[in-house]
Amino acid sequence: MSGTIFLLGATGFAGSTFLISLGKNLPQYHVVALTRGSSAASLEARTKSLKAHHPNLSVVEGTLEDEAIIRRESAKVDIVVNCASSDHLVSIRGILDGLEDRQKNTGSSPIFIHVSGYGLISDNSRGQPPGPSPKVYTDIGFSPNDCPEQNPHREVDNFIIDAATRTQNSVRTLIFYPGWIYGVGEAIGLQRTTLALRIYTEMAKQFGYVGTFAAGLNGMQNIHVKDCASALLIMLQAAIDGRADVGTEGIYFGSSEQPIIPHVEITNKIGDILHAHGTIPLSGSQPMKPEHASVLTEGAWSAMGGNLIANPQRLRKFGWEPVESRKLALMDSLPEELKVAIKEWEVLTTDNSPLLTH
Ligand SMILES: NC(=O)c1ccc[n+]([C@@H]2O[C@H](COP(=O)([O-])OP(=O)(O)OC[C@H]3O[C@@H](n4cnc5c(N)ncnc54)[C@H](OP(=O)(O)O)[C@@H]3O)[C@@H](O)[C@H]2O)c1
Repeated sequence: MSGTIFLLGATGFAGSTFLISLGKNLPQYHVVALTRGSSAASLEARTKSLKAHHPNLSVVEGTLEDEAIIRRESAKVDIVVNCASSDHLVSIRGILDGLEDRQKNTGSSPIFIHVSGYGLISDNSRGQPPGPSPKVYTDIGFSPNDCPEQNPHREVDNFIIDAATRTQNSVRTLIFYPGWIYGVGEAIGLQRTTLALRIYTEMAKQFGYVGTFAAGLNGMQNIHVKDCASALLIMLQAAIDGRADVGTEGIYFGSSEQPIIPHVEITNKIGDILHAHGTIPLSGSQPMKPEHASVLTEGAWSAMGGNLIANPQRLRKFGWEPVESRKLALMDSLPEELKVAIKEWEVLTTDNSPLLTH
C-alpha cells in the first residue's frame, strides 16, 4: 500500500518523533507537512530539518488558522494525522470538511487520527492527591461525555466523533489520548522536549522558582515519546488494513504502567536541576504564588492540577506495549531532557530570540 499522509504538528515533540517512525516503517507513504517559520528558524531551515528526518516529504506553508489551506490539503489525501494543537477547532473543522470532500469525490473512507490527551479525564482536584478509590477510566466503552464538562478536549473530541457517525460522507476517526509524554526527541532541528517541561521551566524563568499547581500532590500517568509514536503507528496500520476501531469506538488511551508520581516530585527535581545550572535562585519547588497562579487557564488547572488516571486497553488489543517507557522512567529521563532544553535556550538567547517559542 502507498499513498499520502497530511501531517499537522510535524515540527513538534510528538509529531517529529512520529515523523521519524513513519520514515522508518511506512517510507512508501509520502508525507505533506503543514509548517510555518518560527522565531528560531525560517520556513526553509525547518523544511530542511523535516526532510532530514523523512525521505519522502514535502511542506505546505501554513498555520492552524489557515482553514482553507487545511481543507484543500485534506481533500487531496486519504489519511490525516493531527499532532498539533488538540483543541484547535478551526483546523479540525478544516480537516474534517476536507476529508468529507475527499469521500464525496472518490468514494474512499478517509482516516483521521487526532492526538488529544488525558486532560479530558482530570478529576480537577486542584493539587490534591487521588482519594482512596479514584476514578480510573478505560477506553473501551468510553465517551468524552463521561468526563467533567469543563475539562479540556471534550468539545473538540465530541465534534470529531460526531463527524465519524454521520451517515453521509463519514470519516474513520481515531483519537489518541496520551498521558504526560516524556523523553528526549531525536529530531535534531525540531522540538525535542515535552510541552509540560517547557511550561514549568518557562514559568520558572519568569518567576524565579518552579511553581506547583497548589500543593502539587496530584499526578498523571506517563508515556515515553517513542511509545507515543509506536501507538500512533499501530493505530495507523490497523486503520489502513481496515482492522481499527473507529468513531465512537475509536478511542485509544496511551500510558505506561509506571506508578503515578505526584507532580511535586517532578517539579522538585526540575527546580534542583535548574538551580544547579544557575537558571533560578531557588532549588526545589513551591506552590505557585496567587499572582502567578491567577494567570493560568482553567484548562491548565484541569490538565496539570488534577489526577489523570486511566487503564489503556484498546491499544493492547492491537499488540502495543510501552517498551521504551519500561526501559527509561520519567524521573530518570528528566536530567537529559533539561540538558537539551537548557542548550536550546542558550542557542536562542545568543540569537536574541524569545525563549521556548516553538
Ligand atoms: N507533550 C505532552 O506531554 C502531551 C500530553 C498529552 C497531550 N498532548 C497533546 O499533544 C499535542 C502535541 O503535543 P507536543 O508536546 O508535541 O506539542 P509541541 O511540541 O508544542 O508541538 C505542537 C506542534 O503543533 C504546531 N502548532 C501549534 N500551533 C500551531 C499554529 N497555530 N499553526 C501551525 N502549527 C502550530 C507546532 O508548530 P510550531 O513548531 O511551528 O510551533 C508544533 O509542530 C498537543 O495538542 C498536546 O496538547 C501533549
